[in-house]
Amino acid sequence: MIKLDADALGRRAEAMHKELARISAEPDRLVRLFLTPEHRRAADLVARWMGEAGLQVSEDAIGNVRGRMGEGPRLLLGSHLDSVIDAGIYDGPLGVIAPILAIDAFKRAGVSPPSGIEVIAVGDEEASRFPTTLSTSAALVGAFEQTTLALQDAAGVTYAEALRAYGKDPAKIATAAIPPGAAAVYLEVHIEQGPVLESKNQALGVVTAIVGQTRLAVTLTGIAGHAGTVPMKLRHDALAGAAEIVLMVERMAFTTDGMVATVGSLTVYPGAVNIIPGKVRFTLDLRTASDEQRQATVREFDRQARAIAARRGLVIEIATTHGIATVPCDPRLQDNLAAAIEAVGGKAIRLASGAGHDGMMFAKICPIVMMFVRCKGGVSHNPAEYASPRDMGLAVAALVRFIEGFRP
Ligand code: HGY
Ligand code: MN
Ligand code: MN
Repeated sequence: MIKLDADALGRRAEAMHKELARISAEPDRLVRLFLTPEHRRAADLVARWMGEAGLQVSEDAIGNVRGRMGEGPRLLLGSHLDSVIDAGIYDGPLGVIAPILAIDAFKRAGVSPPSGIEVIAVGDEEASRFPTTLSTSAALVGAFEQTTLALQDAAGVTYAEALRAYGKDPAKIATAAIPPGAAAVYLEVHIEQGPVLESKNQALGVVTAIVGQTRLAVTLTGIAGHAGTVPMKLRHDALAGAAEIVLMVERMAFTTDGMVATVGSLTVYPGAVNIIPGKVRFTLDLRTASDEQRQATVREFDRQARAIAARRGLVIEIATTHGIATVPCDPRLQDNLAAAIEAVGGKAIRLASGAGHDGMMFAKICPIVMMFVRCKGGVSHNPAEYASPRDMGLAVAALVRFIEGFRP
């Protein structure tokens, strides 16, 4: 086993996160969206780090940065570079920086990892630019959907136009796919984004499953009108209808064990103080470990939302923008990861992930496992997100121990 200084690794991890976090579209909050100049700069920085760690670096047809080492079936180690709006600095980058530091530790020890390695920095996990998610890991597993190319961002730029502007050819996306049989296992290091590890006073955890999700885009169309002259009983107020639907789905989630429902964005048209809202668009994110329960909830939501719209004389459109089943993590890999965590003095807590991750895509081509790192207060998707250098150093050390023991 190679000698490791977890504290030094943690300090390096912290410095790298801070350097990467300076790459943002806005000066006062972290915004780093897929296929933007910020993505370009972040990809270039990560490519440099990968090269310094001794990896053979390339960039594929959809913008993923890839660092290879060794031969044979690969241990894939990765996560995403894109961020949510006003993000924390660890969600995504930890899963790229930790593997780079782990591979660098082998290089400094003059030891080659016992298996083929590929470190991957993907570009689109957060769905923060285009109404899709996991599109770049989908390309890696040969599951990219061509309809994605027509999706537009808030400025009306299509995914295909953005890809061309980034210097890529949408016709070549298929070349990004990892060849059949080349992927042995996928392991992602990620902050927990929840309170469990902190509540158990443990730094590291082993993920048992990644919870499935359904995301809907709902449009309600009523009649815009004068706020001062239209009597209440004659109104078809799209926002009042949306409000009733939002409270209905909140109530549904409260009364369904393990279910979470979030209306994260809502836009009112025309959006003026003295105009009755004529149209509202909002998103719904529904998650629970049970796929059957989630699908039943989606059906019930659809039924009740349509009834509310009909009663209020509103036209409703409900589109599914994302749907993915709960993905289990491989039991043997969980045990191996738990042993690696214990080898560095941790106690491996096993827990499910309520957050989605690129591992849901990689599960299409190989067994997956995830390592969670404690984050302060369980806070994430928020600039207050924090993982300590000590915990990150332990995560890198545990990753090195996992790699040392890994055989495809
Ligand atoms: O939404 C999610 O679960 C992930 O953080 N993108
Ligand atoms: Mn996230
Ligand atoms: Mn993430």
